[in-house]
Amino acid sequence: QKNVGILAIEIYFPPTCVQQETMEAHDGVSKGKYTIGLGQDCMAFCTEVEDVISMSLTAVTSLLEKYGIDPKQIGRLEVGSETVIDKSKSIKTFLMQIFEESGNTDIEGVDSTNACYGGTAALFNCVNWVESNSWDGRYGLVVCTDSAVYAEGPARPTGGAAAIAMLIGPDAPIAFESKIRGSHMSHVYDFYKPNLASEYPVVDGKLSQTCYLMALDSCYNRFCNKYEKLEGKQFSVADGDYFVFHSPYNKLVQKSFARLLFNDFSRNARLLKKKLAPFSNLSGDESYQSRDLEKATQQVAKPLYDAKVQPATLVPKQIGNMYTASLYAAFVSLIHNKHASLTGQRVVMFSYGSGLSATMFSFQIREGQHPFCLSNIATVMNVGGKLKSRHEFPPEKFVETMKVMEHRYGAKDFVTSKDCSLLSPGTYYLTEVDSMYRRFYAKK
Ligand code: ACO
Repeated sequence: QKNVGILAIEIYFPPTCVQQETMEAHDGVSKGKYTIGLGQDCMAFCTEVEDVISMSLTAVTSLLEKYGIDPKQIGRLEVGSETVIDKSKSIKTFLMQIFEESGNTDIEGVDSTNACYGGTAALFNCVNWVESNSWDGRYGLVVCTDSAVYAEGPARPTGGAAAIAMLIGPDAPIAFESKIRGSHMSHVYDFYKPNLASEYPVVDGKLSQTCYLMALDSCYNRFCNKYEKLEGKQFSVADGDYFVFHSPYNKLVQKSFARLLFNDFSRNARLLKKKLAPFSNLSGDESYQSRDLEKATQQVAKPLYDAKVQPATLVPKQIGNMYTASLYAAFVSLIHNKHASLTGQRVVMFSYGSGLSATMFSFQIREGQHPFCLSNIATVMNVGGKLKSRHEFPPEKFVETMKVMEHRYGAKDFVTSKDCSLLSPGTYYLTEVDSMYRRFYAKK
């Protein structure tokens, strides 16, 4: 099969959000810490009527409807998520309700989990299936769905929530360059969820930042090496038109792109910029700790960041970290902003999941045919409209919601308020969890 990749995308995020500026005041931190320090504008969150299952039901149903896909045409469904609702029953099986109605139960795939990386694992599974001998000619469907919530403290403003559905097949407008992937996986305790009674992770913030950047370096070097073997020339930032990063918060994305330039500089003396010359003798470890290096590279990178990264930052800045959906929400932003001029461009993607697993891979953007073309994808996703129609909650109400959700997590025998007044038509919502922990949803 040729040009296997993403044919269509739909994104869903809760209409409920809290402004980071109001959170700064509420939390009593210095003004600018979340908005400039973390680079975040706003944070979406699930109220008691939404969860990762309802969000993914909404995203999948909407994708099938809006692109005119018959549920019988789906042959594989893979879900990436790190939000545990059940330790055995996959989120994928909940989504089967959509397909059973049409009589299609012949759908391979289950859930993939490793922090924010599960969505990428699910995506690779689908792409590999379409490229393989076992492909039966039908579409693959990938769903990334997460609700990112943190205990009170410095990590709380880096929460978020969303679900993204992606249709996979040949002749895609967003085609994988499968030969030039670079991965880095290792055993660390930077962010993990060992307490099964709580939805909140245990997180070593500083370690997670360093792990992210070390994984980035390692993936980039492998990615470059594979490119060089294949193309016979060196890869540098100039060879990628856009760079899209997993986005826990925007400041880390700024640092990441600067880090790629530092890598180019370290690998190739010809690129030696006067401003980076003083850092040429730093050891690897020292380079992660040096504030001067960080500042110098970010300064050198600024114009390139504005051109190659900034167009892919809107949704993560507005929603927050969406864990498995975060990288793809960044990519959604790029389509939203640049769909008219992306044909022929190379987009480099960096996926990171704590624990840790990471991969750098790339897309080649092609013309595509309606409904599978970028302009239609942008229209269907309607990112601008969805962002505009949100409802801002005051921080107190957000904190109150988090408290309710703490009690609801892992609980049984309750009915929700069923208040779907803020949800748009077609949105699924949770109505009840019965005495056997069975979950029930309705569609507005
Ligand atoms: N105005 C402007 N900037 C400010 C202000 C202010 N008033 N106050 C602080 N800052 C800056 C700091 O200088 C810092 O910037 P820097 O990194 O460039 O130095 C930034 O704001 C953050 O401040 P810190 O004091 O470093 O923040 P803190 O340690 O309180 O928390 C952290 C940040 C560690 C990211 C925390 O939010 C966290 O643990 N998040 C979850 C973990 C995470 O997302 N890790 C990323 C990879 S793993 C994953 O995806 C889950």
